[in-house]
Amino acid sequence: MGKAIVAYFSAEGTTAKVAKNLARQAGLETFEIVPAEPYSAADINWKNPLARCNKEKIGKKDVPVRDTLEGFDGYDTVFLGFPIWYYGAPNIISTFVKQYDWTGKRVALFATSGGSDIGKTEEKLSPSFNGKGSIVAAKLFTGSVTKDDLKQWAEGILE
Ligand SMILES: Cc1cc2nc3c(=O)[nH]c(=O)nc-3n(C[C@H](O)[C@H](O)[C@H](O)COP(=O)(O)O)c2cc1C
Repeated sequence: MGKAIVAYFSAEGTTAKVAKNLARQAGLETFEIVPAEPYSAADINWKNPLARCNKEKIGKKDVPVRDTLEGFDGYDTVFLGFPIWYYGAPNIISTFVKQYDWTGKRVALFATSGGSDIGKTEEKLSPSFNGKGSIVAAKLFTGSVTKDDLKQWAEGILE
């Protein structure tokens, strides 16, 4: 088993909780994908057509990430977590993915949502990997997923 890490973006805390539990259960470090410009509550109010989240979505905008994942090259497996936004991964996730060389890496996507499935998220995100890396899983969790379930899922990927 190679080295693995849990990288995640969470705007409202649900994915963060799942990511931290997953990391704890699997004995892994976490890296939080934080936007260079933090999201306010108004920024993520998707009901407002003029909100930042809608502008980013419509404009297919990159969302700069504050920090660099140091030692990225040393990881074989990256668990990559995020909330489902507009039936897919938030733009910040594609920005994050495009920053690194995924050659030889295994990627396990996980997400939380308000009810949507993970659906075509993998298919939509996959061009950002530039033909490199391989997505080995894509799993939707509820905010109340148990630690045992997370442990089992992580072990299935890491074994
Ligand atoms: C901009 C935006 C778009 C969203 N789009 C969807 C969606 O398409 N389907 C869905 O089920 N939930 C959607 N949600 C709800 C989130 O996926 C859900 O609340 C998630 O658990 C939040 O995770 P977080 O607390 O880690 O940010 C959206 C939320 C936001 C802020």
